Amino acid sequence: MCGIVGAIAQRNVAKILLEGLSRLEYRGYDSSGVAINNETGVRAHRAVGKVQALRDKFDAVPLDGKQGIAHTRWATHGKPTEANAHPHFSGDDLALVHNGIIENHAPLRRELKEKGYEFKSETDTEVIVHLIHDALKSEPDFLQAVKNTLKRLEGAFAIAVTLNHENERMIAARKGSPLVVGVGIEENFVASDQLALLHVTDQFIFLEEGDVVEVTRDGVTIFDAQDTVQDRPVHVFNHNVDATDKGEYRHYMMKEIYEQPKVIAACLEGRISETKVLTSCFGVDSSFLKDIENVHIVACGTSYHAGMVAKYWIEDLAGLPCSVEVASEYRYRKVAVPKNTLFLTLSQSGETADTLAALRMAKELGYLTSLAICNVPSSTLVRESALTLLTNAGAEIGVASTKAFTTQLTALLITSIAIASEKGALSAEKEAELVTSMRSLPAHIDEALKQDAAIKKVSDRFANKHNALFLGRGPMFPIALEGSLKLKEISYIHAEAYPAGELKHGPLALVDEDMPIITLVPHNNMLDKLKSNLQEVAARGGELYVFADKDTDLHNEDGVIFTEVPKVDEILEPIVHTIPLQLLSYHVAVVKGTDVDQPRNLAKSVTVE
Ligand code: M6R
Repeated sequence: MCGIVGAIAQRNVAKILLEGLSRLEYRGYDSSGVAINNETGVRAHRAVGKVQALRDKFDAVPLDGKQGIAHTRWATHGKPTEANAHPHFSGDDLALVHNGIIENHAPLRRELKEKGYEFKSETDTEVIVHLIHDALKSEPDFLQAVKNTLKRLEGAFAIAVTLNHENERMIAARKGSPLVVGVGIEENFVASDQLALLHVTDQFIFLEEGDVVEVTRDGVTIFDAQDTVQDRPVHVFNHNVDATDKGEYRHYMMKEIYEQPKVIAACLEGRISETKVLTSCFGVDSSFLKDIENVHIVACGTSYHAGMVAKYWIEDLAGLPCSVEVASEYRYRKVAVPKNTLFLTLSQSGETADTLAALRMAKELGYLTSLAICNVPSSTLVRESALTLLTNAGAEIGVASTKAFTTQLTALLITSIAIASEKGALSAEKEAELVTSMRSLPAHIDEALKQDAAIKKVSDRFANKHNALFLGRGPMFPIALEGSLKLKEISYIHAEAYPAGELKHGPLALVDEDMPIITLVPHNNMLDKLKSNLQEVAARGGELYVFADKDTDLHNEDGVIFTEVPKVDEILEPIVHTIPLQLLSYHVAVVKGTDVDQPRNLAKSVTVE
């Protein structure tokens, strides 16, 4: 999604801004731009494609100045062209970058056109900069003119604005899109993501909904939604040296796949004892666990798939009804909330617009409490939820979620066991058994990663495929969904997932020798039923890619390509079976030569509807 960086310093900020944009590349974008203030005015470069194209423009025509704003754009209104790339200008003096969507841009555009403003782009953003320009005609104070303008905007935004002759301050604001202030020594910054500023500071102030901030070299003044000056705390970033470095790996995605044993161990740390889940991991007061009678899980994409697995665990272990829904649907319907229902959100980024909107709606609906399982401690979701369980996966840079997913599953298993135990649905012996299994998880993931070379070989067979079917049963069905999403996202192969028992109700019509069928085989009472489903496919000439442990008695044979998955306790199977599917989609994408870490059209953090 779009990214913002702004800087005001005693030194030239061009390099700082360009480096900030490079650090935001992982979020997904299609064009970029920078505007710099100096004594001669505000000047900009914009470029379509990678930030390198923008750097090339700076090499050809350098822009120097001690104040500037920069942006990576992920197209929503208008194609990815140079004209649509930010910063947008009104006249030569006023430049602005924007994340989010202005929903009332059409009437505002009409109004501004009637006043004689000419639009150079198709973006919704351009209305904001012209509105500020117009406001400055009757309100000469820059800060006040921006504040007056923001009152007219409907939708979501984070903005940074710079004005010629105002070389001592820039203005930024947020409502619905994240924005942080980076605090330096005689220099200050803003950005949509703190990772964009780690090369210049590790001290951050997280702006809240409705905040407007005046940023100077010497300090920042924050006005809240009621226009009252607020003193917000400065947080020191906990550096994880690995986070933004690919190390020995060709892609972040592969690095993140291989980090899973380590981050799953980090997710478990301090949350389980020898025999129990430590309910203190939800905060000092964990009494809410006893009161839960229902669970509603709401999330998007991969996080939604993690929620679907948890439904099986919560209903099985705790015996409580659990429903799972995508946030973009939940937020627009009338929801019936049974008494004592836990509202549980899942999000890697904690900034997904639909999930945040769902949480805000849920807060009005009388839930027992809200719990966020999230990877980013400073995120809006964490700050706005009553309770949090962090996944501790470390920064995930690849757009395709991998370690965030398996740590979400780990955190959900912790939560399911905690609820079951506190509700009295789990004996002490069973809880101890489950906890012992969980402790073995990092080692099993390590074991699963050993199939990398074998899976790489299998992936060659996918290079010319246009479609794929994924099958699973029980909690392996959401894993099949996740496997198909991974393949779609990074290799652009159309893939669908079905509960294996559904095959004969329609999708079997698609099966022929060109259709790879990827099947996740659990080692439980569904094994024989699944084997029958495989027969249905084999009988129609379909090519079967089977992922199973060796005791399932499945192996390579005509039409069956077998990949071994470590044998683990049933409860862990969905987590361990995820690994080969991640590796498969990764290697297929590499064979196909796609942009693995930044697949086309996608963004890491989906901060718009
Ligand atoms: O940050 P979140 O977990 O809330 O993001 C939700 C989805 O946008 C995300 O999982 C998306 O589906 C990933 N690209 C999947 O790999």
